[in-house]
Amino acid sequence: MKKRKAFITGINGQDGSYLSELLLNKGYEVYGIVRRNSVPENQSNRLENIDNKINVEYGDVLDQSCLSKNLSLIKPDEIYNLAAQSHVRISFDIPQFTAQTNALGVLNLLEAYRLNCPNAKFYQASSSEMFGNSVDEDGFQRETTPLTPVSPYGCAKVFGYNITRNYRKSYKLHIVNGILFNHESPRRGSNFVTNKVVKTAVQIKLGMTNRLELGNMDSYRDWGHSKDYVRAMHLIINNDNPEDYVVSTGVTHSVRDMTNYVFKKLDLNPDTFIFQNSKYLRPEELKYLKGDSSRLREKFNWEPEYTFETLLDEMIDFWLDNYKK
Ligand code: GDD
Repeated sequence: MKKRKAFITGINGQDGSYLSELLLNKGYEVYGIVRRNSVPENQSNRLENIDNKINVEYGDVLDQSCLSKNLSLIKPDEIYNLAAQSHVRISFDIPQFTAQTNALGVLNLLEAYRLNCPNAKFYQASSSEMFGNSVDEDGFQRETTPLTPVSPYGCAKVFGYNITRNYRKSYKLHIVNGILFNHESPRRGSNFVTNKVVKTAVQIKLGMTNRLELGNMDSYRDWGHSKDYVRAMHLIINNDNPEDYVVSTGVTHSVRDMTNYVFKKLDLNPDTFIFQNSKYLRPEELKYLKGDSSRLREKFNWEPEYTFETLLDEMIDFWLDNYKK
């Protein structure tokens, strides 16, 4: 049987790397693009295990010619748009770049898709950051919750969400959105709060530093594991009807709870080592996220395998092993 082909933008990110592994295990041919960086070292770290099994080229969602070339040559069956400027606080520093990549980049890819391989299926990485501070009366966000974004990142993602829905309807294309709540792993960038906390706490434990500087510790997030969430992406894109789904654990914790859990696990007192630094605060904060993923669970029998605790335990073990090596 002919192998199915997947094309992934942002293939070297946390989700791109786990998704590639999942698709290879399912027998796909995997293709992807990465942005050129002046420091080539580390760019493909997350793909080290599967380097010789996937096809990766330099590319950019801002370069229409590169997208058209790739899609016309590869003719993928599935397209996953995971490329983004993914850091919410940094989106306040580089709002225009964020809007170009996270909003116009989606449109560029949609056009290349519509013109070169309209029979493919298209997955857009939408985000719970789109909800901003909207919360339903029962304390959850779900597919029907109003989108009131509070960051340039969130505003750009809302454009991506709306334009994909518009293309789905206008051109009858198989386009889906996964509205993913925060998802982490040992492969998470270390300037996102979970990995920053875990990595620095392990450094404190090993006597490498004695300080962890954070921003707002009173916001709440619904944290899952990236591996569970890429499984959901594959289910959502392969649904017979193209529809949008929330992906979340349904459990929320504050940044303070998360930090306390990690420090306690390492037998450290957080009060001795944690300091607030205003440079990590955001001009406007999204205060509370807790996702209701009942639609996804009922439709596909999807359940996360990791809990908040097993996710953090895995990250702690990763950094302990890393430094011991
Ligand atoms: N990054 C960071 N660094 N966040 C901090 C810090 C710090 O030093 N101190 C406190 N925080 C707080 C942030 O203010 C925020 O309330 C929370 O920790 C989580 O921040 P991040 O881990 O940076 O994630 P995020 O929620 O802003 O965004 C992530 O989740 C979105 C889904 O809701 C990213 O992965 C986005 O790309 C994703 O769309």
